[in-house]
Amino acid sequence: MQSDADSNIDVRGASNALNQLLNRYSVGTKYLVDPAPTVDQILIAASAALRAPDRHNLQPFRFILIPDAQRQKLAALFADCARRNGKSADEIAIEQERALLGPALLAFVTHIEPEEQRVVAREQWIAAGGALANFLTALHMMGFGAKVLSGNKAADPVICKAFCEEGETLVGWIAAGTATKAPHPRESDNPSSILRNWAPN
Ligand SMILES: Cc1cc2nc3c(=O)[nH]c(=O)nc-3n(C[C@H](O)[C@H](O)[C@H](O)COP(=O)(O)O)c2cc1C
Repeated sequence: MQSDADSNIDVRGASNALNQLLNRYSVGTKYLVDPAPTVDQILIAASAALRAPDRHNLQPFRFILIPDAQRQKLAALFADCARRNGKSADEIAIEQERALLGPALLAFVTHIEPEEQRVVAREQWIAAGGALANFLTALHMMGFGAKVLSGNKAADPVICKAFCEEGETLVGWIAAGTATKAPHPRESDNPSSILRNWAPN
């Protein structure tokens, strides 16, 4: 297997799907342009999210599509958050601009039930993480670039209130669109570092 950070992986004999998976990389918002994924394509990505392992099918997550017509409202929320945090006028403008980046923008929200007897909270978080990963991979496999972004504002109570219902957590946002630059590894992966034999004492 090639593990050179400058080149994408191509495992000989592997399915196209596996090679696509092995070459999923995030694409920053400055490299994302129109066309954005359509709602139907986003629904396919959501279907992939629902294929992540999820004990008792609790679905402790959801995606919230931010329509273009609402972007200015999000920009105002981001600006307000920056203002409340004592940011300068320039920093406020940058935050405002962030809400407009990415041809498609979705919020990713979890609903973890600490009192759920059948599935402990950490397993619910794992299910949500798997769903998020599947969503990104499906977008990649449909030819779109995407990146998850959060920052301090994802924990801001006013912004959280705008996205979350009672008991939900705003994890962050997913920007998606057509990549102007091929998704590219930043550094080489070393699968051996995450695999070891069990050696009990
Ligand atoms: C929940 C979550 C929040 C993230 N928030 C940010 C962020 O605010 N800014 C950022 O540059 N990267 C953020 N990242 C990391 C990127 O989305 C991306 O995964 C990372 O740059 C690694 O790139 P890769 O996906 O190509 O391996 C976040 C990732 C996750 C899963």
